Amino acid sequence: MSAANPQFLKFIDENQDAFIQRLAEAVAIPSVSGDPAYRPDVHRMGDWLASKLESLGVKVEKRPLGKQILEGQELDLPSALLGELGNDPKKKTLLIYGHFDVQPASMSDGWKHPPFELTIDPEGSGKLFGRGSSDDKGPILGWLNVIEAHVKLGLELPVNLKMCFEGMEESGSEGLDELISEEKDKFFKGVDCVCISDNYWLNTTTPCLTYGLRGIAYFKISVSGPARDLHSGVFGATVHEPMTDLIHLMSKLVTTDGKILIPGLMDLVAPLTDEERKRYEVINASIKDFDDAVGAAITFSDDKVATLMGRMRYPSLSLHGIEGAFYGAGCKTVIPAAVHGKFSIRLVPNLTLNEVTKLVCDYVNAEFAKIKTKSKMTVEMLHGGEPWVADPNHYSYRAAHKATESVYGCAPDYTREGGSIPVTLSFADALKCNVLLLPMGRGDDGAHSTNEKLDTDNFIRGSKLLGSYLYELAVAE
Ligand code: BES
Ligand code: ZN
Repeated sequence: MSAANPQFLKFIDENQDAFIQRLAEAVAIPSVSGDPAYRPDVHRMGDWLASKLESLGVKVEKRPLGKQILEGQELDLPSALLGELGNDPKKKTLLIYGHFDVQPASMSDGWKHPPFELTIDPEGSGKLFGRGSSDDKGPILGWLNVIEAHVKLGLELPVNLKMCFEGMEESGSEGLDELISEEKDKFFKGVDCVCISDNYWLNTTTPCLTYGLRGIAYFKISVSGPARDLHSGVFGATVHEPMTDLIHLMSKLVTTDGKILIPGLMDLVAPLTDEERKRYEVINASIKDFDDAVGAAITFSDDKVATLMGRMRYPSLSLHGIEGAFYGAGCKTVIPAAVHGKFSIRLVPNLTLNEVTKLVCDYVNAEFAKIKTKSKMTVEMLHGGEPWVADPNHYSYRAAHKATESVYGCAPDYTREGGSIPVTLSFADALKCNVLLLPMGRGDDGAHSTNEKLDTDNFIRGSKLLGSYLYELAVAE
């Protein structure tokens, strides 16, 4: 028997309100990993999750990951949680991963409701607004819902579960790779496959299974000159200005239609085969889905396949910001003394972090030399992760395919994603096993954006999907 236990499905339906309440508790902890001021909340979030797991009988180990320097402060990295439930040698063992840290959020960014108070849409759409609702607290709580249902109903889980939850994913998963390689023959021994629920459907209607992610290389260009900020009326047209030099360099990275200008980089991209192109053609998506997700009609291309490939199989270069630049209201007439431009490149097969870093640094140095400025410049890679692609014909994908059909009544799309989850490749390489990305949320959830949400239906049916997948996995071959 492979279909999920009907009692389990019923329990999920009947406990919707309590599940939403628990999600509200999680969202109320502002576990922003990238801001030192919130680090205590990231620790608190890990403790909260550990105690919820323990109360359901999960054996949890909190593993310290060492320290980190952030904005000049030495901070403890949030401990990773390693959990275990069941160790029946006759069953398969699945490793699940999720992250309990979130991106920053504040009302002033344009949220309709306070970002750290889960708000059920007053207009009755069933949307649950709140930072982390979709990325990635909702999916983690989906696993909790599955475990709780089984424990409370006295049902055995169809597979053994191992769990790895971390609080630094949004900041490059610092410290986690070391833990994985240390534990690969200890805690992680015996894992048959890995399931991560930390991405989204492509659109708002079609569930998907995701078999690839882009990697990332994140860079900083620092330009400095004067010993202090200067008055532009007094020193304009007399000194080299760091910001002007930086803007010049940043303008040399990418064209306004998204073409990467780093010489040699595009030559590394794996060639497109006809077979691969067909995979994008059959995906159930339209330009309108992209327009809806971004809230404006601004895609580079009107062609669905080109747009999908831009996200899934080509690299991209995005400019993120300039630290040290004047950005407030009003008209301050300053010449900033030092500025740091931030940009990142999303990596795809066969770009490697090392090769890309070398190409970028050589190019930025060469462009800087051309402008003959007296400013000082350095360029460095701050953090990165390699791209990942899995085998979507593996039994774990077939199990998720069947579970999707039984919960949603349709076949899933097979997608690759533009975002990055660095640990995916670490698990695939260190544990030498298949990794499946099984998303809970929709394409318009607005992860990292204002008004992030998770639809109640996705939370509930998503919990059923995660549970049903375990039943299918138990019998898959
Ligand atoms: N959940 C996302 C990963 C993701 C994004 C998957 C978009 C699919 C589509 C994850 O939390 C995330 O945002 N990761 C960071 C990682 C980076 C800081 C190394 C990202 O992609 O920017
Ligand atoms: Zn995430």
